[in-house]
Amino acid sequence: MERTFLMVKPDGVQRNLIGEIVARFEKKGFQLVGAKLMQVSRELAEQHYAEHKERPFFGELVDFITSGPVFAMVWEGEDVIATARQMMGKTNPKEAFPGTIRGDFGVTVGKNVIHGSDSPASAEREINLFFKEEELVNYSKLMNEWVY
Ligand code: GTP
Ligand code: MG
Repeated sequence: MERTFLMVKPDGVQRNLIGEIVARFEKKGFQLVGAKLMQVSRELAEQHYAEHKERPFFGELVDFITSGPVFAMVWEGEDVIATARQMMGKTNPKEAFPGTIRGDFGVTVGKNVIHGSDSPASAEREINLFFKEEELVNYSKLMNEWVY
């Protein structure tokens, strides 16, 4: 089954949105296979956001993601990568529809509450960057018979 990497950013943690965000993915029918509250190091932040290294806001991005704890997660489900991106909404909360996480909780692009992998290749890269294999749990849920 497909897996994606999702992360409640420091603004989401400080604003007590971990539970709300986890609940949305649980209620949707996706399955949590790993999660941890953690402080991101500058080194990890720079690796995670390597694709944005040349962008003018790269420094701000690294400062922000290391400014407080994040809640890192791996979720599993059919088409979970694309569907989670839909549930997150557009990168800029000003353009994100109500009903999406960024549309409901974000105001500015710099503090947009959540990160989610944007492709199967990014998902694999980011899961490996943030989690060790033994931190991910393989298990089956009876719920899945009622989702699929
Ligand atoms: P992520 O899931 O966080 O990767 O967001 P995304 O895939 O929707 O957007 P993208 O990867 O293009 O950008 C990564 C992050 O950089 C965004 O989530 C924003 O928080 C931040 N970002 C993007 N554009 C700007 C900008 O113009 N200014 C600032 N300060 N941050 C930006
Ligand atoms: Mg991105």
